[in-house]
Amino acid sequence: MTKRILVTGAAGFIGSSLCERLVEDGHRVVGLDNLFRGQLKHLSALEHLEEFHFIEGDAREDSVLDTCEAIYGGFDLVHHLAAINGTRWFHEAARDVINVNINTTLATLAAAERWNARYVFASSPEAFGEEELMPLSESSASSFPSAHQHQRHSYGGSKYLGEVALQHAVASGLDARIVRPFNAYGSRLLGDDYGQVIGMMFQAVASNQSIQIHGDGSQTRCFTHIDDVVDGFVRAGALDGDVVENKPLHGCSFNIGSTEEVSITELANSIKNAVDDPDVRVINTEGYHGDSKRRVPDCTSAEHLLGWKCSTSLETGLKRVWRELNLQP
Ligand SMILES: NC(=O)c1ccc[n+]([C@@H]2O[C@H](COP(=O)([O-])OP(=O)(O)OC[C@H]3O[C@@H](n4cnc5c(N)ncnc54)[C@H](O)[C@@H]3O)[C@@H](O)[C@H]2O)c1
Repeated sequence: MTKRILVTGAAGFIGSSLCERLVEDGHRVVGLDNLFRGQLKHLSALEHLEEFHFIEGDAREDSVLDTCEAIYGGFDLVHHLAAINGTRWFHEAARDVINVNINTTLATLAAAERWNARYVFASSPEAFGEEELMPLSESSASSFPSAHQHQRHSYGGSKYLGEVALQHAVASGLDARIVRPFNAYGSRLLGDDYGQVIGMMFQAVASNQSIQIHGDGSQTRCFTHIDDVVDGFVRAGALDGDVVENKPLHGCSFNIGSTEEVSITELANSIKNAVDDPDVRVINTEGYHGDSKRRVPDCTSAEHLLGWKCSTSLETGLKRVWRELNLQP
């Protein structure tokens, strides 16, 4: 059935691919983004389609959400992805990260309640803070160090509080779900100084510079291809019913991640393989405070309740990204 869907953060890395997939699936989509980090070129395939509307504006503002509402007279589903993301921002602009991430979530939760819409929140494994017990399950505890040590958890803390606000809305009757993508990557991932690791490594190779590893490179991550991440959001938004397998669905959280755990040093070597250039140099630089040593998901709920499965290996995904980057004008 065709749904009216609002995607916030629509011009961003994940949001733009999510909009494409939702339109492809036959839905009517409004994409909202203030272009803080998003880029309109990501939405170029959608711009002339009747089923897609883009609104430039701030998701914290009710007047902007009213403008979105006016397009279809409300929404059946909200995918809330607008946020300040990118590790360097967490340290440099901690108060902005907190302000934007928390207030966009509060405003869109309230709007979803007004519209009687289902709500999907893009949280993050960083909502678990520096929890060391792996794998991270849907119900792992969150563990945050003293805030005077560093400001990295402006981001994870904002996602944690977003989850708290969501659970409060669920208790008041909202049908809401949480998606936690584990290190998404794809050809739209930013590779500038405020970008994320795979984007930065490919950008270094493309500009004939050394790949930089922050810290000693022993920290591990599970990198998840954008198509798998988008599929997780779509499934989380599409699943109907109040109870699935005896678990209440409202308030349910889904870890969406590959379980292929690789160190950042191994990642750099995989990128060298993907670009087929053994001469690319790899150097170690200063690490980020609060960077977790490991981040491994347990995706049991996503697999059982959503029927989600990670289908792209890191090797295949990295080769695909490099091919796509080389096709871009
Ligand atoms: N990329 C990942 O690996 C990853 C992992 C976990 C969680 N997430 C979450 O998924 C979501 C999307 O991430 P992404 O990687 O696409 O990041 P992104 O930065 O590419 O996308 C976020 C978008 O939100 C927009 N935005 C920022 N402030 C806004 C505001 N006040 N109003 C409207 N739009 C605003 C930005 O311009 C940007 O386009 C974010 O909420 C992020 O925290 C991403």
